[in-house]
Amino acid sequence: MRFLSNAFNRTGLTMTKAQNATLWDENGQRFTDLTGGIGTAIVGHANPHVAKAIQRQCTQMVNASNVHIQDTQLKLAETLTELSGTSCCFLTNSGTESMETAIKLSRKKSKHLVACHKGFHGRTLGALSLTHSTYRQGFEPLLPHVTHVPFNDADALQDAVTKDTAAFVVEPIQGEGGIHLPDSDYLKHAAEICEKNDALLVLDEVQTAYRTGNWFAFQHFGIAPDVVATAKPLANGLPLGAVLYREDLDFSPGAHGSTFGGNAVSCAAALAVIDVMKNQHLHARTKATHKNLTQKLESIGLKPRGMGLMLGADHPHAKKIQQNAQARGVLVSVCHNETLRLLPPLTIEGKTLDDAVQILGECQP
Ligand SMILES: Cc1ncc(COP(=O)(O)O)c(C=O)c1O
Repeated sequence: MRFLSNAFNRTGLTMTKAQNATLWDENGQRFTDLTGGIGTAIVGHANPHVAKAIQRQCTQMVNASNVHIQDTQLKLAETLTELSGTSCCFLTNSGTESMETAIKLSRKKSKHLVACHKGFHGRTLGALSLTHSTYRQGFEPLLPHVTHVPFNDADALQDAVTKDTAAFVVEPIQGEGGIHLPDSDYLKHAAEICEKNDALLVLDEVQTAYRTGNWFAFQHFGIAPDVVATAKPLANGLPLGAVLYREDLDFSPGAHGSTFGGNAVSCAAALAVIDVMKNQHLHARTKATHKNLTQKLESIGLKPRGMGLMLGADHPHAKKIQQNAQARGVLVSVCHNETLRLLPPLTIEGKTLDDAVQILGECQP
């Protein structure tokens, strides 16, 4: 391919238009997007309420810079801290930048970090040090003093976390690793182990936020993490991330920064997303859609797992199903060649979803 980097495993499609859960390519062919723009189009592609907020903000102020407070970012920080039960917010441009920020916040006490096997936290060098997969190959050595333990294994965590540990970093539901849910008490045990050792519990909610029938996935597990990093769904496709934490962990002036993080347009979009989520009762709708989608996936012979509209199902021919489905106008992502991953917009219409699942069923070799 010319001009654009080869870094991505691309579909070969060139997209030109999007609306809710539908994408159109340059030839006018329509696709149902069960990937939801890889988890970003939370209230649907080109959501009209969000588009209006973006348009309005573009003619008002785009980015006055972070040497000032920008009004939409202050409002967003207040809202996100309230929704997450934290008290301080650092705004970023992406998931990996949120994780870099979380790492820097954590490394005050010591440098030892604990993360999980199959965890995914991004691809910049700090975040990649926590990521546990083949994505590391060719880029090591990464950050020293990182221990990886099996996910959902409280005993292994107990052994790895010591008084010298700065933080345990974990996705409440592993996404890229293949949609793995922990046992209901794992995160509670993790919080206790961290507290006992004066280590921070850092949750990577880059993919899980807004998607599980709650604002944050940790809210299903009865815990209060020290740090929550998020990004994907916040601004419905515009670049925006947020790190939410206790005020006493905050940076001193000059210790961290970001030129575009928290720009006024992304923040206006994020506030509009929260409005849509509230006005359209999307947490309740997510739970109902989850039930329907799970049943439909079971009816085509799959065994789905996940929460809300973050679902995965293993299949020995996952890659082939993905290819066949694309040819039939349905887009789905695949983790590690073995798990179909569905992250559709919370606003996807019932019939669109049912039709797409039927096609997935017909695409099994
Ligand atoms: C859990 C998790 N953390 C971090 C990231 C990195 O986010 P980004 O691609 O926005 O840098 C991702 C991306 O998929 C993710 O799923």
